[in-house]
Amino acid sequence: MSQLEVLKLLADGRNHSREKIIESFGLPSSLLSEYIKNFGNLGLDLVVDCKKSYRLSRPIEFLDTNKILSPLCDSMTQKIYRLEIFQELESTNSYLLDTFVPKARRLSVCLAEYQSSGRGRFGRKWSAPFGGSLCISMGWVFDEKPENLSALSLSAAVVVRQVIGDLTNCYPMIKWPNDLVWKDKKLGGILTESSPKKDGSLYVVVGIGINLSMNSAWLSKVCDWPEGATDLSSISSGEPLKNLLASRLIEGIYTMLESYSRTGFSSHIDDFASANYLKGRKVSLLGEGSDLSGVVASVDSDGSLLLETKTGSHRIVAGEVSLRAS
Ligand code: BTN
Repeated sequence: MSQLEVLKLLADGRNHSREKIIESFGLPSSLLSEYIKNFGNLGLDLVVDCKKSYRLSRPIEFLDTNKILSPLCDSMTQKIYRLEIFQELESTNSYLLDTFVPKARRLSVCLAEYQSSGRGRFGRKWSAPFGGSLCISMGWVFDEKPENLSALSLSAAVVVRQVIGDLTNCYPMIKWPNDLVWKDKKLGGILTESSPKKDGSLYVVVGIGINLSMNSAWLSKVCDWPEGATDLSSISSGEPLKNLLASRLIEGIYTMLESYSRTGFSSHIDDFASANYLKGRKVSLLGEGSDLSGVVASVDSDGSLLLETKTGSHRIVAGEVSLRAS
């Protein structure tokens, strides 16, 4: 019995006796102890009862290709060039960027239960325990660089907000450019990366991380926001929705990418404006030598943030700066 099989057995969050696991799967006791130790390295929270039984403090819904694909209509599944699920990977974004490029007008998709080097914006880390977040990246080729590439992440955030809201009835706000926020806490983030190709086309990877179910120790260490982070299990009914979420995101992000060369950010600007977490808030630009601060007025048609400062209006382009709300 492999480590993964033991984990799948424990995924229901119920008590499982050590003796039974060893007996029914013919597993050497030392190997089970090794697996249990590794679970800690993967960030799993195992409740051990006098070394006699084990229980995962939070059940895991495993990623499942069939459950992701079955809600999609045939024409959508045909648009998927490749869908790969990993139990463990350095980073789904890095994987897609480094491995294969999808055919034109088709989407490549990569998901992982655990990322050992998950990446966030500005070189930050993105970490989550095994199975505790949705880590999904989608790759797409534009025939040529779209006019307004810097706003693509904002459009992606609008899609993610809509998908989460439709499934849970809780519509997160968006902190410019593309963080998902619920009651001042970070619920998820997006990392969009691109790689120009020799033929003039542009390969873009949209990576989305959404906190699903983490204990409070994890939530307090995954994000440096003053109010910290939250997860979907804390804000909605707790129904398993990882696979459904992945399915809807694939559909939504595909639709956005497919039309982005024609419409750019214009079809998402109104939705962004009504979900703009920073509107009316005082913000400061982060970075060496920068002392600009002001009140957020709105977001412009190219996705830049319009800031009212003592010295007048300033336009801040997505991807160039990091902000702190005060
Ligand atoms: C951020 O908030 O700074 C962006 C976080 C993006 C995390 C996702 S998880 C899936 C994909 N793979 C990565 O390594 N990062 C993105």
